[in-house]
Amino acid sequence: MCGIIGYIGKKQALPLLMDGLRHESYRGYDSSGVVVFDHDNVTLVKATGKLEKLEEKIQGMDIPGKIGLGHTRWATHGGVTEENAHPHADCKQNIFVIHNGIIENYQQIKDELQAKGHRFISETDTEVLSHLVEHFFTGNLEEAVGKALAQVRGAYGIAVIAKQDPDKIVVARLSAPIVISVNNDGGFIASDPGTILSHSNKMIFLDDGEIAIVTGEGCKITDLKNNAKDKVATEVEWTLQEAEKTGYAHFMLKEIMEHPASLENVLRGRLLMDEGGVKLGGLESIQDKLRDINRIQIIACGGSAYAAQVGEYMLEEYGGIPTEVEIGSEFRYRKPVFDGHTLSIFISQSGETADTLAALKEVKERKGLSLGIVNVVGSTLARQMDAGVYTHSGPEIAVASTKTFTAQVAALALVSLFLGRQRQLSGPAGRDVVGKLSELPAQVREILGRRNSIEEIARRYHQYPNFCVIGRKYNYGIALEGALKLKEVAYVHGEGMRGGELKHGSLALINNEFPTLAIVPTDSVYEKNISTIQQIRARGGKVIAIATEGNREIQKIADDVIYIPENLEMLTPVLATIPLHLFAYYVAVARGCEIDKPRNLAKSVTVE
Ligand code: F6R
Repeated sequence: MCGIIGYIGKKQALPLLMDGLRHESYRGYDSSGVVVFDHDNVTLVKATGKLEKLEEKIQGMDIPGKIGLGHTRWATHGGVTEENAHPHADCKQNIFVIHNGIIENYQQIKDELQAKGHRFISETDTEVLSHLVEHFFTGNLEEAVGKALAQVRGAYGIAVIAKQDPDKIVVARLSAPIVISVNNDGGFIASDPGTILSHSNKMIFLDDGEIAIVTGEGCKITDLKNNAKDKVATEVEWTLQEAEKTGYAHFMLKEIMEHPASLENVLRGRLLMDEGGVKLGGLESIQDKLRDINRIQIIACGGSAYAAQVGEYMLEEYGGIPTEVEIGSEFRYRKPVFDGHTLSIFISQSGETADTLAALKEVKERKGLSLGIVNVVGSTLARQMDAGVYTHSGPEIAVASTKTFTAQVAALALVSLFLGRQRQLSGPAGRDVVGKLSELPAQVREILGRRNSIEEIARRYHQYPNFCVIGRKYNYGIALEGALKLKEVAYVHGEGMRGGELKHGSLALINNEFPTLAIVPTDSVYEKNISTIQQIRARGGKVIAIATEGNREIQKIADDVIYIPENLEMLTPVLATIPLHLFAYYVAVARGCEIDKPRNLAKSVTVE
């Protein structure tokens, strides 16, 4: 959840660290800090609140030095105070540590170190690392870090520097990402590839149990027992422009506007029009095993689990395989029943979500077949899968997912088609889906072209504190997604529901103060949706309908209508998502909310 950045090389470290923190701050933003070494001089500056607070503090300060670390925090252990902000030092102000993750046995280690005379100044779990490294330090930093890490349980991506061994940054990871890049200017480390993309697109992704010694000239990687590891840098295909706001007021709006490009990217080169099938290179190695599966479980969290809800219907109708959605944080706490004929599909934008990774661990321990739908190339999830489909959406900076959500839904359609063509789906039926998939980017552009009218509706409704969002069948997951976006970015209560469930209790909430966003494309459940809208109207509830173009009847019963183009029922979720993302965004703007970095949240949830 926290963001880390480090630099060692020929240039002044501070501007590079601050630049990196500006990018990393979407990972955590309740406090931040930097430490810079200039020979024997150490400057440590920390501030609570947004990164601007740290910028204000360092303004006018002279902080020379060509090695340093920076950190942006999302509090887990200990409140939001300067003492708890990273970097954390040892007793002698020799060793400085930044950390993303959780040290589970920190209290026991802290007690032991305190008994030995170490003085702690924070309430964090991280501070035990700096004192533990101090405890083992005899002049060689990597050796001390290795010994310290052998004592801790939990998850970490850490970076450590020591005044008494000053020509290196030592980094290590266990379940929390670390990327390294070395170019002519020096060595860079970060928790996110986008942070150091402006320096090089060639990056080394550290694996669990690895330690790297990064210098201004290169990097050496070992395991915790000091055995050398040979690793090749991966070329990250993201562009710098994708990681910048490029004139938009918010990253969220920019990323909503990138839905079409994101869809083009996930579909590119994968649609086989003549055969009515799809080419998914990432599945080739397991295609025979896939013929053998008779059940699917899709495992994900948050918005990715809502994309999974759409996939459940797709995989059953088009893939012909019984499918269930499992929530990552629940999966391993209930005795999940699956066997060698079950495929586990993991969906994650970041590929670093701790709950999803924990579920993957469970599946792998039981030798289950795993397939990932992941955005971040080189992420932990992506690297641990038996096979995978990248969404290729590019970097997503706003905390709330948007363009990657529709890409996940499209990727699920591709996988459904792939499995369906292996089974019962005919060539002509496959061609129909392929043709309709290829129409999506243009159709989404069309909806985005009408965003002003959605903004106008959002402005009229922005003062309501509660919204119901309903959808059925394929669009149930989209109702959940629409409600989540309202909660996340506009801080209003959104109740996402299956339309048919409303009358079983929640209808009691509806009155003229509780509007409903109803997803009602002209599909197999259209009539049922209309009945639900009538039930809402009869209680005085206002209705904003998301309906198929050409449906004039809906105007008679809805207060407002947002039209989406016609497409296959299974693909309407992609189209219906767009007005809901825009609606939540514009409500948030009208309410004056902090949009890209909503309170209490962080982009990548690397704690369980
Ligand atoms: C919603 C959102 C979160 C994520 C969830 C899973 O807008 O961003 O709910 O979808 O934390 O994250 P990933 O997909 O990275 O595993």
